[in-house]
Amino acid sequence: MTARLLDGLGLARRIHGEIRPEVAAFAAKHGRPPGLAIVLVGADPASEVYVRNKLRSGAEIGFRADLERLPASATTADVLALVRRLNASPVHDGVLVQSPLPRAMGDDAGQRIFDAIVPSKDVDGLTPVNMGLLVQKRAQFVACTPSGVVELLEREGIQIAGRHAVVIGRSDIVGKPMALLLLHRDATVTIAHSRTRNLEALCRQADILVAAVGRPGLVTKGFVKPGATVVDVGINSMTDEGTVLGLFPEGHRRLALFRAKGSVLVGDVHPEVAEVAGALTPVPGGVGPLTIAMLMRNTLHAALMAHGA
Ligand code: GUN
Repeated sequence: MTARLLDGLGLARRIHGEIRPEVAAFAAKHGRPPGLAIVLVGADPASEVYVRNKLRSGAEIGFRADLERLPASATTADVLALVRRLNASPVHDGVLVQSPLPRAMGDDAGQRIFDAIVPSKDVDGLTPVNMGLLVQKRAQFVACTPSGVVELLEREGIQIAGRHAVVIGRSDIVGKPMALLLLHRDATVTIAHSRTRNLEALCRQADILVAAVGRPGLVTKGFVKPGATVVDVGINSMTDEGTVLGLFPEGHRRLALFRAKGSVLVGDVHPEVAEVAGALTPVPGGVGPLTIAMLMRNTLHAALMAHGA
């Protein structure tokens, strides 16, 4: 069997097309476009790419999308002051603080800063209010990557109710909200993590397997029940030839790409999984573009809610 590839990029484009007229209508009605502010602290190379893509998509769809940069030497107090200014901004409906923050800010900086975002502008769904509402199945804003995954599964006609879903990863930004969204659609959900025993055998029971751990190629054929749906949330930039050779055989197009560029994007799912899965999200072009599409939808939603819609 060769897995059906689930085209996240195509769906993201379709969603952008659905949002565009609503963004234009908002701008016509309110005299300004819906606005998104992205806070980037430091210059993490992967974050630079993600943020650039978010800003570009936002501008293409008709949003006001502003980058608010702080140097890597910024303190938590500096970031909190910026977040408070954006909370009060009349032109920004959504506020997003890009993760990860510089390590030097300390382990609790991320949560302290997310805590300061006003829930009505929390387009990433990471404030305690929005996380709590999600637990209670009355979410207003859900983290963008897991909501993109559910959007993809539903629009591709993949049944969730009654199926066994295994989510590998328990982060606040992907694993936990992912598990809740699947639970609320009546899946039987198992969350696996670094201390889980017999991970491979557990994953092999899954009808829907979501990998969100940031370990390139972790999910190999032995993890996958034949015909299962496999969702790859990992985006790992690989620069080590030995590791890349373990993923792509000589002659593979992606290996040639790696040799030309010196790096290649690899998910948490080994490419050999395409031989056993029924459906699979590619990396790149799978979940990544949907994260941005959901951010756009959340920002429009925040703007409409701010105006009582
Ligand atoms: N870092 C990686 N993905 C994300 C995301 O969706 N939101 C934020 N804020 N940071 C991220």
